[in-house]
Amino acid sequence: MPEHVLVIGMMGAGKTTVGRAVAAAMRRPFLDSDAEILERTGLTVPEIFATKGEPAFRGEERAVLAAALTSPVPSVIAVAGGAVFNPDSRRRIRAGGVVVWLRARPQTLAGRVGVGNERPLLEHDPAGTIARLDALRRPVYRSLADVAVDVDGVAPSGVAERVTRLARVWLDERSDAADQAARFRLSAGSSR
Ligand code: S3P
Repeated sequence: MPEHVLVIGMMGAGKTTVGRAVAAAMRRPFLDSDAEILERTGLTVPEIFATKGEPAFRGEERAVLAAALTSPVPSVIAVAGGAVFNPDSRRRIRAGGVVVWLRARPQTLAGRVGVGNERPLLEHDPAGTIARLDALRRPVYRSLADVAVDVDGVAPSGVAERVTRLARVWLDERSDAADQAARFRLSAGSSR
């Protein structure tokens, strides 16, 4: 099972920008939830919300996450912000590799996202909606994350460097632990 780098967090935390930079630094493919949905359906996020509704959009999020995680090539995956509410997706995220949470204060997010059609959930009262969603999602992100990286006041390049460093350490430790376990199993087997 390949060890992916899974980037989680709220809208505006920088999952796409940071994820793409981390993928380049680690020489891995980058898979982004919204882009994968566009590729799969031919529709943008606002188009799906407008024509099919949010539940259908959440279904697409689940489908592209499941597909991304089956990639045999270790990748960097920007996970949909709301995917963490689905128990099956949570299970897949945990099993998929190292989970990096881009942690941001709601004020930082609100300052970044603005009002716009790109994010249908933020059409009305973006700051209030972000605060509400953040309160709901923060404990779930926290429980899923192997590492959290604070993004407030840090340029995306700085965040990406930190994520890359931490992901490498985490993945190296995991593979060392797996090697040791394999050696232990071998030596336990040979002494029988
Ligand atoms: C959403 C995040 C958006 C987009 C959609 C819903 C969310 O992507 O998928 O507007 O519920 O967190 P970004 O996190 O890339 O903004």
